[in-house]
Amino acid sequence: MHTLLASKWTKGALFLLCLGPLASIIWPFVRHYTIPDPLQFIQHGTGDWTLRFLVCALTVTPLRQLLRLPELIRFRRMLGLFAFFYACLHFTTYLVFDKLFDVHEIWKDVYKRPFITVGFLAFTLLIPLAITSTTGWIRRLGGRRWRILHRAIYLSAVCGVIHYYWLVKSAVIRPLFYAALVALLLAWRLGQWFLRRRRTALAGAGPQRAPVNASQ
Ligand code: HEM
Repeated sequence: MHTLLASKWTKGALFLLCLGPLASIIWPFVRHYTIPDPLQFIQHGTGDWTLRFLVCALTVTPLRQLLRLPELIRFRRMLGLFAFFYACLHFTTYLVFDKLFDVHEIWKDVYKRPFITVGFLAFTLLIPLAITSTTGWIRRLGGRRWRILHRAIYLSAVCGVIHYYWLVKSAVIRPLFYAALVALLLAWRLGQWFLRRRRTALAGAGPQRAPVNASQ
């Protein structure tokens, strides 16, 4: 398993797999299938996959630790960048086909429709994360600051779930399912943080040494 996960072929295969959803969105148009509402079809497809990739990216660290497979970390950046890629397609669909590049209309929407406001926030939060995802940026920011910045992915996922929940009027099962997943991942992360803090505090307290008497 370790060898398979460490192979460059596995990374290449995952890259191709991540392009699958894009192919599944384009394919019906190539084949001239009848799509009742093409705009909605693309918007829903790209929105769904943005959320799925966000959840997948967030699942890497818990899986890596629970299954003791450190090699899984190699795929986290790719999954996060694919979330951003599908978010860009999702936003571009809205910008080009829904709003016809009318920036004034978009701002009005962001201001007046809460589900667009949180969607916009979720997307905006991903931009600095995508920009700073390179090794050069990790070095420039320093590991600690980089990690703090990249915690914003949780906030983006939460906003994505709220965006989805507010959009659907009655069929709330799917957004609630994503909400449960994100809540579980967040709880796990907070649990880890709490355990680490406790361990550090215990190590700091350590066995007390007898004070050394300078006169001895
Ligand atoms: C990380 C960012 C985002 C995520 C995770 C996300 C996710 C989603 C999801 C899951 C859906 C519903 C798909 C379905 O019903 O199957 C959706 C629909 C939609 N999203 Fe987003 N979205 C994001 C950002 C945005 C942004 C920035 C905009 C526009 C400013 C936007 C506009 C829309 C619209 C217009 C719809 C379809 C609404 C309708 O069917 O009437 N989303 N999004």
